[in-house]
Amino acid sequence: MNHPAAVKRVWSLPDMLNIEWADGTLSEYASLWLRDNLREDRDPHSGQRLIDIADLPEDPRIRSAVAHNGAVNVEWETESRSAAFELEWLLAHASSRSDPRPEFTTRRWLEGASLNAARDFAWATFSEAQSDRSRRARWLTQLLQDGIAFLSNVPSNDAGILEAVALVGRVSETNYGQVFDVRSVPQPENLAYSDLGLGLHTDNPYREPVPGFQVLHALVASPDGGESLFGDGFAIAEHLRATFPDAFQVLTRTPVPFRYQSKDAELYAERPLIQLTCTGEVSAVHYNSRSIAPLRLAARDAGPFYSAYRRFAALLRDSRFHLQFSLRDGDLAVFNNQRTMHGRTAFSSARYPRHLRGCYLTRDSVYSEAALLRREFRPETHS
Ligand SMILES: [Fe+2]
Repeated sequence: MNHPAAVKRVWSLPDMLNIEWADGTLSEYASLWLRDNLREDRDPHSGQRLIDIADLPEDPRIRSAVAHNGAVNVEWETESRSAAFELEWLLAHASSRSDPRPEFTTRRWLEGASLNAARDFAWATFSEAQSDRSRRARWLTQLLQDGIAFLSNVPSNDAGILEAVALVGRVSETNYGQVFDVRSVPQPENLAYSDLGLGLHTDNPYREPVPGFQVLHALVASPDGGESLFGDGFAIAEHLRATFPDAFQVLTRTPVPFRYQSKDAELYAERPLIQLTCTGEVSAVHYNSRSIAPLRLAARDAGPFYSAYRRFAALLRDSRFHLQFSLRDGDLAVFNNQRTMHGRTAFSSARYPRHLRGCYLTRDSVYSEAALLRREFRPETHS
């Protein structure tokens, strides 16, 4: 079998290097892009770039490009320096290639009601996650692909959650502290701390940044009521785009103010309910009707916004999209708080006490943990 980076043909124009790979696919590399990526222009220890664009010629013209010994040697017309680009590196950085990092592949799951939480998502026991790094690598990758994963047998004591999340990412401390307790209290300052059922939502869209991941650890599960609900906000937003494209567009363009006020915090941020990447893919959903402040909306824009908002809300209430089940004592759910929406059914704390302990993790730390473990178990995809 041919090596993936084997080439059939290499040729150049003054402004472009062309490679035909052994499998017949073509890649193009602009001369200026190549010139911007010389290995010698990076610090050999840190890998950080020592130059910026203002140091580069505006229009470097390629004089020759020759494949030799697993690399392409490129010479430019007006420069004495030449450069060797390894074929493996060129293949990995071809613009036509999709990102090979598995944790960046999203697996959407629209109809949560047809899924089984125990069967269809990643689970590991706390001790497996602790002792088996390969298992933890797979678990983290699945967490990032599905937007949710679970641990079981996490010690049901106050510190259990922090021991467990040390295996996942870094805690993001808020005005609630490092951790918060979800249980009913009289006159709660947040309705999460009541017996009420809560529809699908994301947490804390009034923060900057919005918490990246949320963790909920069941210390005392209720045997009656208080079931957890989860929904894939990316899949539901895409369903809205497919069925009501105008409503989808309105929700991506209307800034919505979110506010939280308590005796020790005054938090405010504006963001659309559905956020897109610069290429138009859904990158985040922010939905928490409890904390939406009055929108600054021209009267003529109110109709379209409220209509779109209502459509989205109706989808979120649709039980087809709900993964509903009971966490057991010691179970711990970790989920992408900008994607996987959560809620619960009502319960009676007078009859059965229910106590979850939660915390938030920074988004980048979870991706980093997955990538660090991948270095050990999938070195070929380490870039
Ligand atoms: Fe919540």
